[in-house]
Amino acid sequence: MIDPIIGFSKLSKQEKIEWIAKRYTQNPKTTKNILERYWNSENEVQKLHDEFIENTITNYYLPLGIAPNFLINDKLYAIPMAIEESSVVAAASKAAKFWFDRGGFRSEIIGTEKIGQVHFMYHGDATKLEQFFVDIHHKILEDAKPLTKNMEKRGGGISKIELRNKTTDLKDYYQLHCTFETLDAMGANFINSCLEQFARTLKNEAQKYPLFDEDDRQIEIVMSILSNYVPNCLVRAEVQCAVADLKMSTIVSPQDFANKMLRAIAIANAEPHRAVTHNKGIMNGIDAVILATGNDFRAVEAGVHAYAAKDGKYKSLTNARIENGIFKFWIEIPLALGTVGGLTNLHPLVKLALEILQHPSAKELMQIVAVAGLAQNFAALSSLVTTGIQEGHMKMHLMNILNQLGATDQEKATIIDYFKNHTVTHSAAVAELEKLRSN
Ligand code: MEV
Repeated sequence: MIDPIIGFSKLSKQEKIEWIAKRYTQNPKTTKNILERYWNSENEVQKLHDEFIENTITNYYLPLGIAPNFLINDKLYAIPMAIEESSVVAAASKAAKFWFDRGGFRSEIIGTEKIGQVHFMYHGDATKLEQFFVDIHHKILEDAKPLTKNMEKRGGGISKIELRNKTTDLKDYYQLHCTFETLDAMGANFINSCLEQFARTLKNEAQKYPLFDEDDRQIEIVMSILSNYVPNCLVRAEVQCAVADLKMSTIVSPQDFANKMLRAIAIANAEPHRAVTHNKGIMNGIDAVILATGNDFRAVEAGVHAYAAKDGKYKSLTNARIENGIFKFWIEIPLALGTVGGLTNLHPLVKLALEILQHPSAKELMQIVAVAGLAQNFAALSSLVTTGIQEGHMKMHLMNILNQLGATDQEKATIIDYFKNHTVTHSAAVAELEKLRSN
């Protein structure tokens, strides 16, 4: 039996590193060197990182790239993207330039409603509970005033609180289903604080409600938490051009290309295995911008995939249509994002990313992120239905292969030049490097 470590979080950073290195790695000295190489030389920045989470031992870097030439609602953006996958930024940039030459992207906000719920059990008569809710509704709002007054001053706050009877899904289960407007904040803390206050009021008021008997008063609050499923916090982004303008490749005519794009989406709608990969490609763009702007990609991922399955079947998040010779390609996606609060004014790179995006409001950021997802899907499908994905992907991945093989800068330049006209595979790259070295 191995004993667990007690009080790990109380150890100093050095002690934590010593412990992890000795206990779990072959070469503690190398482990320490790797971890220290990723420390930030500026103490202030390092301290920030250390304090973001518990037990920080170093920083985990991702490349931050820029995809320029995104024309969105006539405004030109260079989009910061944090991502490790070789071809994502290149694909986004290519799609951005393609659509820049065709009028750019249009994007609109459909809704900004955030959701939170107080989940509780009540064993009594449902009509009594309904009356109770009507009678205490004002008190729920009043008790939450200290939490909501600042948000209300700015035009946001609690939009609606409903009592929902969920007893057909689960015996005795009810909820307060609440909607919020959180403006430029993602709003998780605001929403959760409000919900916990609603729960307290519910519980307290039940104790003194004259129409309740002793059993009715035993309302059991199970939990109070925001929902990451936000189907009414929705943004739409779209591109369109004449079918004849879709000159993508010499091997496919514009009309064939447009038809194949429609078919690719129809296949994603018909086949969940394909839809998941199709949407994964969209999330390549979305997550990269969300990470760069300090938003919560797990929340967005969870909500987006639930939305993709809203009709009872997991489907494509993008759509396409050909109408009167015009090719239209669009995405509709729920995105609960913030441009104030959270990491946005703490993390220096997040602040910079938001500056590069010209200090967007949350609504503008939703539009930018939706466009990044649409562009990514356009790029992926364009390759898939023409040359195949590997040509572009392996070209971008070649650098990783060469780095793995320890190629020098000069060797890299020669081999990259060679592969401009040859198909990249791992074995072909190895062979080329060996040939070069034996000359
Ligand atoms: C790879 O990260 C993403 C793709 O698989 C997306 C797709 O298949 O649509 C290329």
